[in-house]
Amino acid sequence: MLSRRTSWDLAGNRLAARLDEARASGRPLLDLAESNPTRVGLAWPAEVLAAAFADPRLPVYEPSPRGLPEARAAVAAYLAGRGHAVDPERILLTASTSEAYALLLQLLCDPGDEILVPAPSYPLLDVLADLQSVRLGRYPLRYDGEWRVDVAALEAAVTPRTRAILVVSPSNPTGAVLSAGELDAIDRLCDARELALIGDEVFADTALGPAAGVLEARRALAFHLSGLSKTCGLPQVKAGWIAATGPAARLGPALERLEVVADAYLSVSGPAQLALPRLLAEREQRFLGPLRARLATNRAALGALAGAPLDALASAGGWSAVLRVGQTLDEEALCLALLDDGVAVQPGFFYDFERSGYLVLSLLPPPARFAEGVARIVAGVRRAAGAPADPE
Ligand SMILES: Cc1ncc(COP(=O)(O)O)c(C=O)c1O
Repeated sequence: MLSRRTSWDLAGNRLAARLDEARASGRPLLDLAESNPTRVGLAWPAEVLAAAFADPRLPVYEPSPRGLPEARAAVAAYLAGRGHAVDPERILLTASTSEAYALLLQLLCDPGDEILVPAPSYPLLDVLADLQSVRLGRYPLRYDGEWRVDVAALEAAVTPRTRAILVVSPSNPTGAVLSAGELDAIDRLCDARELALIGDEVFADTALGPAAGVLEARRALAFHLSGLSKTCGLPQVKAGWIAATGPAARLGPALERLEVVADAYLSVSGPAQLALPRLLAEREQRFLGPLRARLATNRAALGALAGAPLDALASAGGWSAVLRVGQTLDEEALCLALLDDGVAVQPGFFYDFERSGYLVLSLLPPPARFAEGVARIVAGVRRAAGAPADPE
């Protein structure tokens, strides 16, 4: 009676169930899997949000498939600040980045078509693709002291059913950022094979150095995705956007159809659209400034790993860190043992790493909790690896 596209195994895995249990138990937990910015001391003051939402136009419904012009203008100003000049006519508001994916998959793919996504990458993509009856093909990011796209492997992964290539920059969980050379190669590939380029750039404001953005593509039809969830730390507001670029012959029809798709749902709330310009205007003070300080402090705490039987992979941005714990350790067993020690972390296999031996940590928790959690992880890895405990 129910669709094949929703025929997931909902039993959940042991680890996710144990994590839910640990969170619900009320026992002290150093939650280094917490990725919700509103739960780690980075929430906006309630009165600031209330002021941003106070608007005399609140009682009136003004349906607008692409989004209110002033909200789109605010997104264009945000993008201009990042060095991308985008006409607000090429911007479309969505309820979230996840919804933006859904709209783009509906625009670009027929059932059974495929998009290529990086591996490692974050697990929500599988569900988003299933929901549109789209398949995910993987192309590898490789680590050699920094993460790089394996462009040859990406080219080889394109099939006659491929409709788009996704880049996530900075990437979740690796922190990989797209270089100008990688963008150029992918732009050319998309152009030659008539593929769209989708850039999930929700973490762009936390890039630690130069990062190319898909709006700099010269040839392909390209879509930048982001939203208030990560640019402002306001996932609860439910406002995101798509900004498109490309040759007129490709871009015009795509935008026209995207507007019809958006018009079918009109899912972005009016209050969120009215508040968006004020929220974006205050993002540095209310969120990004404190966030960057938090990320830097927690990254520095990973320096304490020197000499431990694990190390942190170099990251160029984002909200998470990847620890390499050694291929012989069972990730799930290690995460379960750490949970018994009162620390929650995620195993690499949640994120589709090429091989085992990784842990993924959120860099969001308050620094004292983060540092204590890392110390317990080091002790847990030593124990699991049979190494003598650190005398300190
Ligand atoms: C890379 C990436 N893109 C998109 C999202 C989803 O963002 P939104 O809350 O706007 O749907 C996430 C959430 O963790 C993410 O990590």
